[in-house]
Amino acid sequence: MTNHSSSASADTLKVVAIDGPAGTGKSTVSNRLADRIGAHMLDTGAMYRAATLAVLRAGVAPESTDVDGIVDAADIRLTVDDGETAVFLNGDDVSREIRTDEVTAAVSAVSAHQHVRTKLVELQRSHARDAFLVVEGRDIGTVVFPNAALKVFLTATPEARAERRHRQNLAAGRESILAEVLESVTRRDHLDSTRAVSPLRPADDAVRIDTSDMTQEQVIDRLAELVAERIGVRP
Ligand code: DC
Repeated sequence: MTNHSSSASADTLKVVAIDGPAGTGKSTVSNRLADRIGAHMLDTGAMYRAATLAVLRAGVAPESTDVDGIVDAADIRLTVDDGETAVFLNGDDVSREIRTDEVTAAVSAVSAHQHVRTKLVELQRSHARDAFLVVEGRDIGTVVFPNAALKVFLTATPEARAERRHRQNLAAGRESILAEVLESVTRRDHLDSTRAVSPLRPADDAVRIDTSDMTQEQVIDRLAELVAERIGVRP
C-alpha cells in the first residue's frame, strides 16, 4: 500500500481541509463549498459513524479492544451522487442509521482507537488521489492531509452549535431537546479534544473562522475567497 504521508505534497495539492467541533455547520458549508468550486466532498465523520454502527451491530462495547477486529472486517464505502453522500456498511445503505443518537453517543469512544483511525485515515487518503477535494473532519489538517493547500478550522460557541444541531434534528424529523443536544455537544467536544490519538485541534497554519455570528452564506463566501487566494480556483 502506498505511504501517502510521505508523498503528500503531490496528491494533497488540491485538498481543502475543514476541521472543527460538532455543530459549526461544517457539513453543510463543506458540501456547498465543494459544489460552488467544483470539488468533490469527503465527510470523514460519516466513516467514523459507519465504523461505530458496525461495533454496535456486533454488540461490542465502544471502549473494548474487540473494536479493532470488528472495524477491520467492516467494509465501509462512501459514494457521492449529485452532492449527496451515501454511506454503505457491508453493502447496506446506512446513511440514515449512522445519524441516530445511539451512534452519536458511541462515536467518540470508537474513534479514539488508534487502530480504527489508522484504517480510516488510509481510506480517506485513497479518496484523494488525483482529486480536487473538500474534506471535513477533526484531524484533516493535522494528520490526514498535513500538506493540504488550504486548512480551515471552524469554531462557534457551544450554545450556537447546540442550537444549530437542534434545528437540524427537527428539520430531519428527529426528536430533539435543546438542553440534551448542548450536553451531547459539550461531551463530544471534551472527548474529541482530549483523546490521546489525533485530538481535535487546529493545525498551526489553519485559518480560524468563528461562525457564531455568521450566516452560512457568509462562511461559504469567505471560504471561496480563501480557495481563490490559495488554490487559484474561482467559482
Ligand atoms: O462530524 P461528525 O459529527 O459526523 O463526526 C462524528 C464523530 O467522529 C466525532 O465526534 C469525532 C469523530 N471524527 C473523528 O474523530 N475524526 C474525524 N476526522 C471525523 C470525525
